[in-house]
Amino acid sequence: MQKKGKTLEEICNEVIRKVTPSDKENVLSFSNDLVKNLGEKLKSSGINAEVQVQGSVAKDTWISGETEIDMFIMIPKTCTREVFTKVLEVIKGFLGEKWVEAYAEHPYIKAEIKGYKIDFVPCFKIQRAEEVMSSVDRTPLHTAFLKSRLDRKRRAEVRLLKKFMLGIGMYGAEIKVGGFSGYLCELLILSYGSFIRVLKEIIDWKERIVIDYAGLYKGEKEKIKKTFEEPLVVVDPVDRRRNVAAAVRRDKLDEFVVAARAFLKGPNKNFFYPNNTKAYDANGVSHAMKYRQSTFVFIRFGKVKAVPDVLWGQLYKTSSSLRKLIEQEEFKVLRDSVWSDEKRFNVLVFELEQRFLTNIKKRFGPPIKKMAECEKFLQKHLDKPHTVSGPRIERGRWVIETDRRHIDVVEMLREKLVNGGRSVGVATFISESLAENFNIVTNEEIIEFYSSNIHFAKFLTEYLEGKPKWLNSPDRTV
Ligand code: CTP
Ligand code: MG
Repeated sequence: MQKKGKTLEEICNEVIRKVTPSDKENVLSFSNDLVKNLGEKLKSSGINAEVQVQGSVAKDTWISGETEIDMFIMIPKTCTREVFTKVLEVIKGFLGEKWVEAYAEHPYIKAEIKGYKIDFVPCFKIQRAEEVMSSVDRTPLHTAFLKSRLDRKRRAEVRLLKKFMLGIGMYGAEIKVGGFSGYLCELLILSYGSFIRVLKEIIDWKERIVIDYAGLYKGEKEKIKKTFEEPLVVVDPVDRRRNVAAAVRRDKLDEFVVAARAFLKGPNKNFFYPNNTKAYDANGVSHAMKYRQSTFVFIRFGKVKAVPDVLWGQLYKTSSSLRKLIEQEEFKVLRDSVWSDEKRFNVLVFELEQRFLTNIKKRFGPPIKKMAECEKFLQKHLDKPHTVSGPRIERGRWVIETDRRHIDVVEMLREKLVNGGRSVGVATFISESLAENFNIVTNEEIIEFYSSNIHFAKFLTEYLEGKPKWLNSPDRTV
């Protein structure tokens, strides 16, 4: 007899129990002590600043196992940005040895104390979004807006939605993910009331979704659609000029829609807790690649001097430029993908129908009824060194066969990338790394690296499996 699956409600309640942190009191008392100690340290260093816990810890929406404390250091808006640097210096002194300064646009410090991950973020203290001076100044306004509106029930629903997004690989507004930020999840819950309602709204998605929870556009949806161009628009309740969902990439939104449909049809805990990918062994991966009879081209290079957001932006841009280049040369690309450990190793992957093209390439001339063009075509190609065969008439037009410039995709890529590849659209920091060194291998030649790096091995295994982890046969329930 088939085991009866759990109901939607049972699964949701079970997940809520698991994602609600059991150590809330500890996190809060640790954070409050830190606020006090850092505040004193700043004061004694002569800096006029207010320290506050912000983000999901302040809103009580963080999920168990993902505790990250956002510690904001708010300085008066009359100060200059130089004060940020001073604030960071004091924090570094306060932390001692263990910290990393990591930022793309806004300066902040990452550290870990007593097992808690903490971001220290300086910002200007503002009352209204119009006064915003740096990109993170709105955050305290977000926290204030949500704190008074998210009750216990809704906070549980936020955690559930965040965990769902995390499980299906869609949580985070960073460039690498291009998905849903925590703040966006919170606003979706506020707007629709519950996790299930959010899913039910999204499954019918057709053109664009527009949400203006605070009514800042007074119901004028057309105006919102004109103001923003993204497929999902969630007007920031504290700033009508900002779309909180601006970072959500189209493919992620599409995947969310189909994942929501699948979950409602066959509720399953795997959506929240995907199975850990078990990488194929060397034989397995070799067999899987051979079976496809395609050509995998792996472009490997080392450290790129850029923080993760910049790195991923440049990896995606470079990958898309190189795909265009490869296609222009008439190689057929089946799929492309990108992998990085954000430290030492980067790999661009292109899977092609074949590595080599024919030596000759067919070029079509004008139809015979165009007399003048025919004359020109003949002048250009008849008895010329580049013409391998022809000209002759085929189905009413002149044709010739000429030598192809590149018959080997690997050679073509080596030639274009050896100087960094700027001219074929490789992004700046990537180009610097390529100019120093890179290495192109095909098919099983990757196995040595594959066997030495478990993260890459999992990535390539997932690539070969080629489907979202949550996608199971529709009648399978757990
Ligand atoms: N924020 C934002 N838009 C983003 C990223 C962050 O508005 N794309 C703001 C939000 O106000 C958010 C705060 O920055 O609350 C802190 O960011 P983050 O730590 O990424 O989000 P949390 O809400 O704290 O969620 P998480 O539980 O993932 O930390
Ligand atoms: Mg946070």
